[in-house]
Amino acid sequence: MRPRKIKDKIYWMGSVDWDRRLFDTLVPLPDGTSYNAYLIEGSEKTALLDTVDPPMAHQLLSQLEGIPKLDYVISQHAEQDHSGTIPRVLEKFPDAKLITSSKAKGMLVDLLQVPEKDFITVEDGETLSLGDKTLKFIYTPWVHWPETMSTYLEEDKILFSCDFFGSHIATTDLFVTDEGRVLEAAKRYFAEIMMPFRNVIQKNLEKLASYEIEMIAPSHGQIYPRASLIIDAYKDWVLGPLRNKVVVPYVTMHESTKQMVDYLVSALAEKGVGVEQFNLAVTDIGKLAMALVDAATIVIGTPTILAGPHPYAAYAAFLANALRPKTKFLSIIGSYGWGGKTVEVLAGMIPNLKVEVIEPVLSKGLPSEADFKALEKLAETIAMKHKEQGFKRPPDVKKHEP
Ligand code: FEO
Repeated sequence: MRPRKIKDKIYWMGSVDWDRRLFDTLVPLPDGTSYNAYLIEGSEKTALLDTVDPPMAHQLLSQLEGIPKLDYVISQHAEQDHSGTIPRVLEKFPDAKLITSSKAKGMLVDLLQVPEKDFITVEDGETLSLGDKTLKFIYTPWVHWPETMSTYLEEDKILFSCDFFGSHIATTDLFVTDEGRVLEAAKRYFAEIMMPFRNVIQKNLEKLASYEIEMIAPSHGQIYPRASLIIDAYKDWVLGPLRNKVVVPYVTMHESTKQMVDYLVSALAEKGVGVEQFNLAVTDIGKLAMALVDAATIVIGTPTILAGPHPYAAYAAFLANALRPKTKFLSIIGSYGWGGKTVEVLAGMIPNLKVEVIEPVLSKGLPSEADFKALEKLAETIAMKHKEQGFKRPPDVKKHEP
């Protein structure tokens, strides 16, 4: 991809990675991603904001071929998908200075062995003049690493936000065209890496509220020409209410647990509770993470194996514990053959979740009538608790009576 003009003297550079399907050997990328770098040409100085993942270095270096001089390379975030090509860019432009936060400097030295002499560190709120363009650095930490900063281009009212507000989408559309698609991808991204830090994200949002932002240019995905689209979405994900929704991650071996899941899901649906059900043997964990953003309740379904939960269920519990959703209630359902400590093991894996545990339902072998009754009661309890708390379906879900 060639450089693309955003506004006068401001260009997108970087790489659209159509083929990548996994990030950090963990996070699924069903729609690929992009690594966005931005070139800003002031009347006196030229700056490059961020770089690209090292396997895509050749693309950025080729885009920089026609650029006679780079005065600054700005590293907003030390993770290698944005910083990994900095050494090659500095090699090409040996007089350029590397601008970064004080915390990121140490990380770039550790991760990329960038020589200390190349750095200029900037503090929160500091500005850098490029002549007729002024960059203001705003520390926006914990958009999943502690050192990340955003950069506000004052004259053009553009916020370069790095991972903050990003989405993993590979596309030729530089600007957001399909808002629904972008919001889904951005919510997935928020859920996967930022949800555990939502208190800090809230502070970052408050900090940005005093800026007049006309456009947000993140380091993944498309540019938002209407900044309020993504800012309002983040406010909802961080501060919005929980929904009248249950997330059911489950695994089944001989269909007993599946029968229980099917019964519970049907009973919840009948009581007006929304459910998102995930078969952990095949599920996309990004979808599961996204569902957790506003789910009031989690019900984990698992058979007992080797005297404990199935490893896939343990993985889901570990993930939920790490992501720390706002969820208020949790229960466990599943079958066992002769005994075990499934409930105790799973309950011990979620210390970060501030949840009330609702009486689990365990079935010996295939679920019996008594087990189905217990599942009915579990559905009733969940529906009642959601009602008591005032949890509602999302605003766009209208109730239709038959
Ligand atoms: Fe897109 Fe945290 O790197």
